[in-house]
Amino acid sequence: MSIRLHPSLLAADFVNIESELRRIDTADAVHVDVMDNHFVPALTFGPQIVGRIAQVSPIPLDVHLMIDNPDKHAVTYAEVGAQSVTFHVEAAKNCSSVVANLRQAGAAAGVALKPATPLEPYLELFHEVDMVLIMTVEPGAGGQAFMPEMMDKLGELSEYLAAHRLTPLVEVDGGITVTTLPLALHHGANTFVAGSSVYGSGEPHSNIAALRAVAQ
Ligand code: DX5
Ligand code: ZN
Repeated sequence: MSIRLHPSLLAADFVNIESELRRIDTADAVHVDVMDNHFVPALTFGPQIVGRIAQVSPIPLDVHLMIDNPDKHAVTYAEVGAQSVTFHVEAAKNCSSVVANLRQAGAAAGVALKPATPLEPYLELFHEVDMVLIMTVEPGAGGQAFMPEMMDKLGELSEYLAAHRLTPLVEVDGGITVTTLPLALHHGANTFVAGSSVYGSGEPHSNIAALRAVAQ
């Protein structure tokens, strides 16, 4: 089965982003983790750097906003060139209007759910989006262990989408390796973020190939 692989730039060398992007040019998109030191304690990059990354990247940008007030800020990331912008439902005041604004700015719109966030309040929202991101770690840092207890939620999401003939991408993020990818795939994920397992050890192109191979 063909899957989408989105290596996370969070595990790359921030001082050499352009060459780090070339090392993952066989992936389907680059996952760019934006952290604001409010929604999560860590701080990464903002729209200026993300815009520059969009200019030099050989592959599309899948921006994951771990920020407060996406109602105000999300659309900026579409305007600087991200093909896809995903924001956290826990942070937004009006999810539907953020989705509409992103679409109007020409980006695909995704919504992300933290591990403790249930699906139920957002079922209607899933009819409007291009991607649903189920976090398989607490957002905020790379290199954490995959939470297998998220597989029930992922399975329920997949069943809901199938029952309503909805086809947003279903992305998982956190602790994805050659061991955990097949588990998430089995529960309905089709888009996989991988930071440490792509950049951490070995060569990114072969790590990407190994992750694709276990999905066969
Ligand atoms: C975590 C980020 C992830 C992170 C994944 O808050 O959203 O995208 O980079 O890193 P790994 O693959 O190392 O768990
Ligand atoms: Zn992420």
